[in-house]
Amino acid sequence: MEFPVIIINFKAYMESTGKEADKLAKICEKVAHDTGKNIILAVGEVDIHRVSSIVDIPVYSERMDPITQGAHTGRNLPEALIDNGATGTLINHSEDRYRIDFLKDAITRARELGMRTVACANDATTAQALAAFRPDMIAIEPPELIGGDISVSTAQPEIITNTIAKVKQIADIPVLCGAGVKTAEDVKIALELGAKGILLASGIVKAKDPEQALRDLVDF
Ligand code: G3P
Repeated sequence: MEFPVIIINFKAYMESTGKEADKLAKICEKVAHDTGKNIILAVGEVDIHRVSSIVDIPVYSERMDPITQGAHTGRNLPEALIDNGATGTLINHSEDRYRIDFLKDAITRARELGMRTVACANDATTAQALAAFRPDMIAIEPPELIGGDISVSTAQPEIITNTIAKVKQIADIPVLCGAGVKTAEDVKIALELGAKGILLASGIVKAKDPEQALRDLVDF
């Protein structure tokens, strides 16, 4: 895994689902190729197969269920995500939270299958608890800043440094941050604080010109 990493979480916006997901994914792929930056897409499960078959940058799921093959209805079987092109998954995003036993099982299952995991936390204590399960990355995102215009690196730099310190007490796991990140300056500050990458959505998905917004963002 090459750091810093920029993960673009598509979410369920009009601009990033269905056919729009394809267009946005191609834009991200182009910027990744042109700039050499490690850009990863996190895509809703209904779009994963299509998106992963048209781009050559990594495509992650936005979630998964720690189930095995069998009688489960409406769940995200990890093997099926992999078959459909997902090479990793977000787990416990602020908009999709789970209990700790679920998270332990999900991270363990993903690891067994060779899927990368980005475990999300809304505070440093949760990040530390997640570190015990050894995800590949941990992303700290203060929920109140998600979708807003003020970046976590400006509004709450201490949550980034505290999280890095708390995670380090448990294991050497790269910490990403996100919420309100929109500019290269936001990214630069986060990296200077010790983050190994960024998890973002609206700054790119909702931009008037997503390609330009992404080019500007990765010019850090
Ligand atoms: O997963 C990324 C995220 O929750 C941050 O969203 O829109 O503030 O970049 P946004």
